[in-house]
Amino acid sequence: MARWLAALAVTSIVSLVLGDFVIESSPENFDGMLRSPDVSLCEHLILPAGYPCSEHTIQTKDGYLLALQRVTSSSSRYAGGRGPPVLLQHGLFMAGDAWFLNTPEQSLGYILADHGFDVWVGNVRGTHWSYGHISLSEKDKDFWDWSWEELALYDLAEMINYINSITNSKLFVVGHSQGTIMSLAAFTQPEIVEKVEAAALLSPISYLDHVYAPFVLRMVSMHIDQMILAMGIHQLNFRSDWGVSLMDSICYSGVNCNDLLTSITGKNCCFNNSRVDFYLQYEPHPSASKNLRHLFQMIRQGTFSKYDYGILKNLRLYGQLKPPEFDLSRIPKSLPLWMAYGGNDALADLTDFQHTLKELQSTPELLYLEDYGHVDFILSINAKQDIYDHIISFFKSLEKHSSF
Ligand SMILES: *[C@@H]1O[C@H](CO)[C@@H](O)[C@H](O)[C@H]1NC(C)=O
Repeated sequence: MARWLAALAVTSIVSLVLGDFVIESSPENFDGMLRSPDVSLCEHLILPAGYPCSEHTIQTKDGYLLALQRVTSSSSRYAGGRGPPVLLQHGLFMAGDAWFLNTPEQSLGYILADHGFDVWVGNVRGTHWSYGHISLSEKDKDFWDWSWEELALYDLAEMINYINSITNSKLFVVGHSQGTIMSLAAFTQPEIVEKVEAAALLSPISYLDHVYAPFVLRMVSMHIDQMILAMGIHQLNFRSDWGVSLMDSICYSGVNCNDLLTSITGKNCCFNNSRVDFYLQYEPHPSASKNLRHLFQMIRQGTFSKYDYGILKNLRLYGQLKPPEFDLSRIPKSLPLWMAYGGNDALADLTDFQHTLKELQSTPELLYLEDYGHVDFILSINAKQDIYDHIISFFKSLEKHSSF
C-alpha cells in the first residue's frame, strides 16, 4: 500500500511538473551539436582560431574514453620548446570548450598558450567531447552511474597521470566550479597530488550547504533529483525536450526565471550579451542524474563526502552507516593553492568558502572579486586583467628552473 501511494505521489508530481506545460519550440541551437562528435573540439573551435591543437584519448579505470586537447601558442615566439603543462578542468554542464568561448585575448585557454604554457584541456565523461566507453553506450543506464566522486578519482586522476607521463613533469591544475570539487577531492589522495605542482581554483567549492541560487534551491525542495531517478532518467540533458520542459516548469513554480542564468549562478557582472547565442552552441553539456543527486545531498546535509546510498548500502560499500568524508586536511600543506571567489556567486557562497579554507592546512593565496558571479570566472570580458594575469604570475613565481 505504501509503495503504491509513493508511486502515485511520484506520478502525480511528475505529471504536474512535466505534463501540463506546452513546450515552447526550443531554440535551434538546443538541438544542435550533441551526441558523439564527428568533429573534435580542436577542429571545431581551437584550430580555426589559429592555435595548434592535438587530440588525445585516454581510458579511465572504469572504461570511459575521454578526450584531452593539447593547445600551444600561435606565436612563433614559443615554437621551440614547451612551457610547463597546465590542465584546465571545467565545471558542471560545461566541457573543455568553456575555456575558449571568448576572444583569444579574453579566454584563459588561449591566454595561457600565448604565455608559453603547454595547455591541456580536460573533458569529463558524458560531455559532448568525451562520450565513449569501452563497452557501454550512452543509452545504457550504467553509462550514467557516476557522480563527481568518479570524475575526481577516475577522470581527473587519469588526466593527471597521462599528462604527467607524456610531459615527464608535474603539472599545474586550473579548476572552475565542479572542477574545483573534483580537484579538492583528488588532492586528498597522495598518489594523485604528488603529480601536481600547484593549483588555481576559480569559484572554489567543497561545502555547499549555503548555496542561495533560487533555481537550485527550488530544485532541491522539489526533490527533482529523486524524482528524475525514480522516473528512470539517468542522463541529465537540458537540451533534451524534457530537460527544457523541466526548466520551464521549475520557473513556472515560482522562481523568477526571466534571467535564468542569474537564478542559477548569481548575478554575473561582465558577460558579453551579444555572444550568448554562441555560448549556447556549446553549453550546457549533459551530466548524470546521480551527480545532481550527489550535489543535492551536499546541499541538504552540509557534507563533503562520498555518495550517500542510504544506510544499508553504505554499510555494504563503505563498512559504515554514513559515507566517508573527503578530508581536506589531507591535502599536503606543501601544495601551493591560489583561489579566486566572487561576491555575487550564488553557488560558491562566502560562508561555504570560509568553511573550505578552515579545513585546509595551507593558506591559499586569495583573490576576491566583489562583482563576480559564478560564470564570470570563465566568461567575463575583463577576466584577463581581473583574474588570469594573476594566475599566470602565480604559476610563474613557482617555476624555479626554466628560462620560461
Ligand atoms: C562581444 O561579442 C561580439 C560578438 O561576438 C564581439 O563582436 C564583440 O567584440 C564582443 N565585445 C567585447 C567587449 O568583447
